[in-house]
Amino acid sequence: MRIFIVGFGCVGQSFAKLLREQSAALYREHAITPRIVGVADSRGAAVSERGLDPQELVDLKDRGSSVADHPDYGVRATDHGRLIRESDADLLVEASPSRMDAPAGAIDNIKAALSSGMHVVTVNKAPLAVAMPALIELAEYNRVALRFSGTVGGGTPMLRMAQVSALGDEVVRIRGILNGTTNYILSKMHETGADFDAVLAEAVELGYAESDPSADIDGIDAATKVVILANVVLNQRATLSDVAVEGIRGMERSRIEDAAKQGMVLKLIGEVGEELRVEPQLVPRGDALDVSKNLNALSVTLRSSGDITLIGRGAGGVETATAILRDMLDIWQTVGE
Ligand SMILES: NC(=O)c1ccc[n+]([C@@H]2O[C@H](COP(=O)([O-])OP(=O)(O)OC[C@H]3O[C@@H](n4cnc5c(N)ncnc54)[C@H](OP(=O)(O)O)[C@@H]3O)[C@@H](O)[C@H]2O)c1
Repeated sequence: MRIFIVGFGCVGQSFAKLLREQSAALYREHAITPRIVGVADSRGAAVSERGLDPQELVDLKDRGSSVADHPDYGVRATDHGRLIRESDADLLVEASPSRMDAPAGAIDNIKAALSSGMHVVTVNKAPLAVAMPALIELAEYNRVALRFSGTVGGGTPMLRMAQVSALGDEVVRIRGILNGTTNYILSKMHETGADFDAVLAEAVELGYAESDPSADIDGIDAATKVVILANVVLNQRATLSDVAVEGIRGMERSRIEDAAKQGMVLKLIGEVGEELRVEPQLVPRGDALDVSKNLNALSVTLRSSGDITLIGRGAGGVETATAILRDMLDIWQTVGE
């Protein structure tokens, strides 16, 4: 399987390393020989039909260079859509930044791949949040696969769990802690009695929050995951504008203290049901959704079987790279090259 990777940071590099480390096992257990034929970052690309050495590419990035500085295969072009269309790849991996304010570039990359007959695995949530119904249609029209299991729960297979639960039963509702940063902040406020601003500053320092944490604390990141769950599990053709969103920016300490007095904890909950919403909600102490630190949790309510909850780390470069690998193998097994 020939692979083109767009976005070669934490996740893209982890995926390339994983392919290299697991190449023997992938051939032995799945009869698959992945070959990276293109890699793009913000400054250009490296392209070779014969295959690129993942270690050479990672070494370039470690030195602060672009993949476009590859001595033999570097290309100083940032028209990634054209490079994708011209490549002979079977699979596009979209791992460029999730820019909710500017999703067009990533949408173009995915459209270029799908309409050229390439399968797509994206961990970039932005294109799905604003254009998921159209992208699903385009994939179906071109009879190729579009997978995105790393967009919800990182390496924890939350989407798969929710999809499998729906087989033979009816999903009535989905609720989840879909953003680790906000869960860290609320948990820490609850445990220590500290102010929102102090805990946020600490989260940024520890690397649990971005230097611009707006997408997390304003609930937008969780809302993108609500959109993905609604489309995939409940077949709703939703986009971000269908989600009612309230984040936790400036959360008052008194709300956390009042919750504690009632034996409750305050959590930022993403909900998919009759309505799509993200908002702070009270959860009983010890409930399945009362997870600590930056963990994620997804609870699916089934008409016959009741609640099923999956808890796990919701992010991390290596974790998310394993989700890409899982999607790639899923495509290989179900659709073939
Ligand atoms: N990290 C996680 O735990 C995690 C978990 C789930 C999902 N994700 C998603 O995975 C994606 C990648 O995350 P990451 O942590 O790997 O980010 P990252 O470390 O910041 O890397 C982003 C990469 O994308 C490149 N890039 C920036 N703008 C680009 C553009 N316009 N076209 C092509 N490439 C571009 C960057 O290029 P330069 O190297 O030249 O700067 C860099 O190589 C994001 O969409 C993120 O939301 C991440």
